[in-house]
Amino acid sequence: MKLALTINGGRHEVDVPPNATLLSVLRDDLGLTGTRYGCGRGQCGACFVIADSRAVASCLLTADQAARMQITTVEGLARGEELHPLQRAFVEEDAMQCGYCTSGMLISAAALLARDSEPDEVAIRDALAGNLCRCGVYGRVIRAVKRAASS
Ligand code: FES
Ligand code: FES
Repeated sequence: MKLALTINGGRHEVDVPPNATLLSVLRDDLGLTGTRYGCGRGQCGACFVIADSRAVASCLLTADQAARMQITTVEGLARGEELHPLQRAFVEEDAMQCGYCTSGMLISAAALLARDSEPDEVAIRDALAGNLCRCGVYGRVIRAVKRAASS
């Protein structure tokens, strides 16, 4: 089926099977590989994108559903050469080890800061509850989100 997706502010026309997930379209059709495949079942957060204003699992969203939403991927967080404050804070706090979970963490945190610019630690933990990190860098991630929120 032919669809027009709005991703990172740009329009992308694709021709995909009816049940194609947004994740597969992002990675395989559009080359936006910052969004990661983890579990494929909505349980790890590696594939999160912002759909309208919410962080959602792109492995569970069909491309057809996504065509009715504004999608932001991790590639859409920076403004040209200028990193998003969260991206800077993740670097400054060394909030990653292998980095596999990082784009999903950034997406959840960006959705949080867009609706609450001064979240407390409970709100940060709640916003990141759907993002798993096999390297266990949760403490550094939380520090990075606090740093970005105070910048
Ligand atoms: S790959 Fe989508 S939540 Fe794990
Ligand atoms: S930094 Fe390795 S999975 Fe999170």
